Amino acid sequence: MKRTFSVAPMLDWTDRHYRYFARLISRQALLYTEMVTTGAIIHGKGDYLGFNEEEHPVALQLGGSNPADLAHCAKLAEQRGYDEVNLNVGCPSDRVQNGRFGACLMAEPQLVADCVKAMQDVVSIPVTVKTRIGIDEQDSYEFLTRFIDTVASAGCDIFTIHARKAWLQGLSPKENREIPELIYDRAYQVKRDFAHLNISVNGGITTLEQCEAHLQHLDGVMVGREAYQNPYMMAEVDQRLYGDDRPVLSRAEVVEQMIPYLERHISNGGRANHVTRHMLGLFNGMPGARQWRRYLAQNAHLPGMGAELLADALASMPEAAREA
Ligand SMILES: Cc1cc2nc3c(=O)[nH]c(=O)nc-3n(C[C@H](O)[C@H](O)[C@H](O)COP(=O)(O)O)c2cc1C
Repeated sequence: MKRTFSVAPMLDWTDRHYRYFARLISRQALLYTEMVTTGAIIHGKGDYLGFNEEEHPVALQLGGSNPADLAHCAKLAEQRGYDEVNLNVGCPSDRVQNGRFGACLMAEPQLVADCVKAMQDVVSIPVTVKTRIGIDEQDSYEFLTRFIDTVASAGCDIFTIHARKAWLQGLSPKENREIPELIYDRAYQVKRDFAHLNISVNGGITTLEQCEAHLQHLDGVMVGREAYQNPYMMAEVDQRLYGDDRPVLSRAEVVEQMIPYLERHISNGGRANHVTRHMLGLFNGMPGARQWRRYLAQNAHLPGMGAELLADALASMPEAAREA
């Protein structure tokens, strides 16, 4: 598994329907689930680990800080067929801090090391960590490297670094993705100082040109919001970043391939909107993009709506968009 390009874990966004859709656009991208807490997996009533076989390579992101619970969940993930388990050390939300996990774990590198070791002891798939470059006033390069060094010593050799720090008080999670300055050089420096580690950078990446520039310094790039809001930006990922020359589906072909998926979802009792809400940005930047978005938004939630929604929405698009 080459982790040159990955789609970031995003709560409410990178669910199994989005991931199925994203996989039609890039065969190679590594796809992350939304963060799932160990508490939800162990005590919850739903199945939080379901995914479609087509999604591979797919990584489960866990939220938690109890080594035994994380080990238990990592084992379940491996049994279910996930290709990787990732620990969230980047989320600054109050709810997550109250549970003593997410970004606040940067202040407890030894605990993160213990978590990673407990997981690695019971699985053979990679155990990886997604982190920030610092928290609050603890934002020096030395703070970051102490964290990386401690966690790497426990056996973790794959990190994704969201290249901005998080403020644990006073900023919402959304503001914490926008306000703290992006310092890509911190991630580059980690790669220079820990050359044996696999380091990906995340934060603010919106084009494949930017990906290529980061890949001059690093092993991988992780893209979040742009891969969700403008998903067809991934269409050239395979060719440009992986040298995979297989043909890419056009936007219309992607829609056509989503129709049987949506049919299955609806016949299993699901609602059209749960799938199509992830497809609103497919035509971004094309003629008719707004029309596409509006058609889906206005019709997908109507009672009894079937998979013909997608065919109808596509038929309503200008020819230029359908052919691109
Ligand atoms: C709606 C939303 C939900 C997110 N949920 C998670 C999450 O569950 N776990 C996580 O590690 N990061 C989460 N993030 C942060 C992203 O993974 C990523 O680090 C951040 O958006 C910066 O990357 P970007 O600029 O490419 O979007 C979320 C971001 C968004 C926009």
